[in-house]
Order: sequence, then C-alpha cells, then structure tokens
Amino acid sequence: MARKPIIAGNWKMNNTIAETKALVTDLIPLVKDSACDVVICTPYTDLATAVELTKGTNIKVGAENVHWAEKGAFTGEISAKMLVELGVEYVIIGHSERRQYFGETDATVNQRAKAALAAGLKPIICVGETLEEREGNKVKEVLDRQVAGAFEGIDKEELTNIVIAYEPVWAIGTGKTATPEIADETIAIIRKKMEELYCPKCAEEKVRIQYGGSMNPKNVKELMAMPQIDGGLIGGASLKAVDFSQVVNY
Ligand code: 13P
Repeated sequence: MARKPIIAGNWKMNNTIAETKALVTDLIPLVKDSACDVVICTPYTDLATAVELTKGTNIKVGAENVHWAEKGAFTGEISAKMLVELGVEYVIIGHSERRQYFGETDATVNQRAKAALAAGLKPIICVGETLEEREGNKVKEVLDRQVAGAFEGIDKEELTNIVIAYEPVWAIGTGKTATPEIADETIAIIRKKMEELYCPKCAEEKVRIQYGGSMNPKNVKELMAMPQIDGGLIGGASLKAVDFSQVVNY
C-alpha cells in the first residue's frame, strides 16, 4: 500500500481574516486536481474563515497548536474540542518554534498529541535537530528521543491518523534546504525508530513523514522524488497561492 503524499502549509503568525479570504479563494482552483492531501494550517483567528471557504473542496484545514486539557484555567490556550467544533481536521504539534520560544518539550508534545487524537484531530508532529546537534553527530539521538517521547502511549491503530514532519531547525526560514539525500536518510532514521516502537509494516505502510524547511516550487520535485519523503510542511512558500499550488502540484 503506497503512502499518499500530503502537502501542508504552515502559515505561522501570518494572515488576517481579509488576507485569508484572498489567499484561500485564489488557492482553491489552483490545487483542485491535486493527487496529494492538501492542508492549510492557519492561526486560530483564521480557522473559521478557512473552514467555511474550503467546504466542498479538497483543501483541509489545520490549527498550529492545541492544549491537552479539555477545558480550564489555561489562559491563551485552545482545546481540541474547540477546534473540532470549528471543523478543523489537522493540528501541528511540537513545531521547533514552539520548542525554541515557548518551552515545548517532548512530554507536552505527547500530551497534546494524545488529546488531539482523542478528539478526532489528526496531529502533524514535528521533530528535527538543530545545527549544533547535527554538527555534534547527535541527529539519531535527538530524533530517537523526540519520536519516542511524542509517541509514548499512542496505540498503533492511531498511526494512520498521524503525520510526522521532519524539520531540521537549521533549514527553517533560512533558505537552506536539506539536500534530498540528507532529508531522505534522516527520515529513514525516523522511520526506523517507528519500526522499533511499533512494527516494520506499521512504519512502512502507515506512517507518513513530511520534510519541512525552505521547501519551495524550485526544490519540491527532487525532494518528493526521494523514497522516504511523503510530503512537505511548507512555511514561507505557503503564503502565496501560486507558490503553494506549485508545491502541491509538483
Ligand atoms: P519555511 O518553509 O519557511 O522554511 O518553514 C518551514 C516550517 O517551519 C514549516 O513548519
């Protein structure tokens, strides 16, 4: 069974409601014939608009984070139930910007992922090493730890509802893409870990792993040609309809 490619945009902290209307309206016809799953992950304030505009299209909508509690005294946080009520299907969890700037840990990533799954959301779980870790030959150690931490206590029946995004921190927003070979061999490390944690068939057939980090219309084709790469998580290039559509239609 082939793994269906999945291309997701991560808008990060970009786009007002008005800008969302313009971008999504332009995007819909450009990606309508895509052979991949297409997702746009937007700020919370844009979700309702994005869901409304994409109804009946092949574009799915995701959030950029979710809290693990059902409700309560967690100022500024959003629950999985709130996202589901809006019609959101996916949620990014553990992005390196959350880990770097907002104290996200493997343990909180795991809690968020479990809450998302329990509510019926599909997590896009981000992992990736820093430049220092790569130069210190710690890539496998770091990824093994992040993957084991994120998937702690998650049942293998859930694997088809989860996407992993391998995003080397040194390639995000820097214009420095991992070479297709580096991306592919590093994703193979992640898939191997999933095999250890679950089973060979699970890792091979059920787990979709994206590459993320300066993926754009120019480099998408060679990245997607690699056997381990099942899609992309796109930052900057997801903010322009034409650019994102060219990535989707690689
Ligand atoms: P860029 O595509 O802007 O490098 O961002 C990648 C990313 O962080 C997606 O989550």
